[in-house]
Amino acid sequence: MSIGASIALEGVSKRFDSGLQALDPIDLELRAGEFVSLVGPSGCGKSTLLRILAGLVAPSTGRCRLAPGAEAARAFVFQEPALLPWRTAERNAQLLMELEGLAPDELQRRAAEALALVGLAGMEKLYPHQLSGGMRMRLSLARALALRPGLLLLDEPLAAVDELSRELLQEELSALWRQAGFTGVLVTHSVHEAVFLSKRVVVMSPRPGRVVEVVEVPFAFPRTPQLRASAEFARLAGEVTAALRRETVPRAAFA
Ligand SMILES: Nc1ncnc2c1ncn2[C@@H]1O[C@H](COP(=O)(O)OP(=O)(O)OP(=O)(O)O)[C@@H](O)[C@H]1O
Ligand SMILES: [Mg+2]
Repeated sequence: MSIGASIALEGVSKRFDSGLQALDPIDLELRAGEFVSLVGPSGCGKSTLLRILAGLVAPSTGRCRLAPGAEAARAFVFQEPALLPWRTAERNAQLLMELEGLAPDELQRRAAEALALVGLAGMEKLYPHQLSGGMRMRLSLARALALRPGLLLLDEPLAAVDELSRELLQEELSALWRQAGFTGVLVTHSVHEAVFLSKRVVVMSPRPGRVVEVVEVPFAFPRTPQLRASAEFARLAGEVTAALRRETVPRAAFA
């Protein structure tokens, strides 16, 4: 169990050395233990914003305040599981902790715990090529969770998974989030995925990205599969889509 970090982005923008303005100033507060999704057109700066939140990229202006303190562990899950093929599942799950310099017995304990959390108990000795796509994604999640992050950043982690598996993985991810207590930020192109998982959905404009709307998702947790078929779910997904279209359609039409 980790303590969710709260984050405040204050006037955060990004202009790359090439001169490309990826993000216009963004103000956004993420509450401790919240799960938020970022949606927006391709190239609008979602991954850049996630990397700024992860501390991997420095903002050009503004600042990103993390509480409790900058030492709160941050973990990143990429679209590609990026596992080491010569390592077993448990050794892959230990990887990020090794880089953090944790003691070997602690590595083993935490890896076993994280693998159990994602439903991979009993598969510790298998290699990535012996796992299904969904299992590989769960392993990538376990590797991040083993760090006990206060902030978990997910960049389209389910994009390569078939639709039914994707829905099941969303349900698992939501349960994990509730159990582990981290603050979650997910980048996704799926409006339904964003609404299903999140307390709030942040809609971004085309590049340079800025926040155009924050849609509150009032459904109680745990979110059930039945929710997906409800009229209220469809209405909220429609609201997010409309916010996206308001920003993109007029420009595309005159392009
Ligand atoms: N290191 C970099 N140097 C220069 N430009 C970059 C760099 N990283 C990203 N960009 C540019 O910044 C813009 C935003 O990129 P980013 O990857 O954040 O978009 P995105 O919203 O995640 O897109 P997608 O949905 O396609 O993943 C793009 O125009 C991209 O080419
Ligand atoms: Mg991206």
